[in-house]
Amino acid sequence: MAIATASSAAAALALLCLLAVVPTGHGALQVGFYKGKCNGTDVEATVKSIIASRFARDRTIVPILLRLHFHDCFVRGCDASILLDGKIGKAAEKDAKPNGSVKGYDIIDQVKTALESKCPGVVSCADIIAIATRDAVVLSGGKQYSYSVQTGRRDGNVSVASEAVSNLPGDSFSASQAIAKFKSKGLSASDTVLLLGAHTVGITHCSFVRPRLYNYNNSGKADPAMDPALVSRLKSTCPSSRPTTNNFIVLDQGTPLTVDNSYYKQILARRGILKVDQNIATDKLTNATVKALATGTSFPTLFGGAMVRMGAVQVLTGKQGQIRKSCRVVNK
Ligand code: HEM
Repeated sequence: MAIATASSAAAALALLCLLAVVPTGHGALQVGFYKGKCNGTDVEATVKSIIASRFARDRTIVPILLRLHFHDCFVRGCDASILLDGKIGKAAEKDAKPNGSVKGYDIIDQVKTALESKCPGVVSCADIIAIATRDAVVLSGGKQYSYSVQTGRRDGNVSVASEAVSNLPGDSFSASQAIAKFKSKGLSASDTVLLLGAHTVGITHCSFVRPRLYNYNNSGKADPAMDPALVSRLKSTCPSSRPTTNNFIVLDQGTPLTVDNSYYKQILARRGILKVDQNIATDKLTNATVKALATGTSFPTLFGGAMVRMGAVQVLTGKQGQIRKSCRVVNK
């Protein structure tokens, strides 16, 4: 049995390594798109230095940017539609409930302002999100997490709140629901597992965990898949008697401030926080991949590959869309 388990983890690893071969360009995206296009300014170096100084003050920019990038790419593709402000009577993606706790708009504004002063109308908001996210991941996880970001995305002109609701995965999704949602975006089951590895950093509010602690599947009990010691600990942070207490819990109970593979070790030890986190550790489709990522050294490279694939979802390129002057509004 142990041999079978080890060999299925090895097979999963071999498959993942194949997936790690990232093509140099998805459609019209390419690595280094802005080289020589910004009046002598190195675009990626400019983004990197701003992200490094923000990170030095506040490490939470890492989860903030990862989530912002994901929530952008899953709604109308990676086109920075999440950054557009709504208008009276026209709620935008950022106004939708699933984006209620999304942050990072000010970070992208800061980078955009710096780049507009060097080369107006050249660098898209969508590319700034992608580059800034990579830089934040590397600052947290180290050089081994570096990957070449493809650029050349253009910004979209449309942002509709209801599309965020229908396109983003629900907070109580199971593994199979998550896989189906990712598939609808052209991403595989392995990508789903790899990208959920972003939960190696950041937090979730009690409201998303309470059902697992107190009334799993209307049983009046905790989710039996969660380590009982963790259940008691989380109950003290998220009391049922005061449901308005929206405290938060770290998603990776091992090393919550660092991008690493601890998330996979935690979920195998029944210490996944969201239902989907716990589910990918036990689902037949994903269990071997989770084991391979928890035990091997492949996560850094494979995560970068999955981020590149997510960053290519339904992108606008060439003459599509526009390069916004301000990331919050469509150009007149
Ligand atoms: C089925 C897929 C997913 C579901 C159901 C899900 C759900 C959630 C939920 C409910 C939270 C907590 C939000 C809050 O309390 O404010 C969260 C946080 C987070 N998610 Fe996911 N997520 C998924 C996939 C992803 C992916 C693919 C990424 C990035 C590539 C990601 C990155 C993050 C990060 C970094 C946080 C922490 C944010 C922070 O601390 O500010 N998630 N996710």
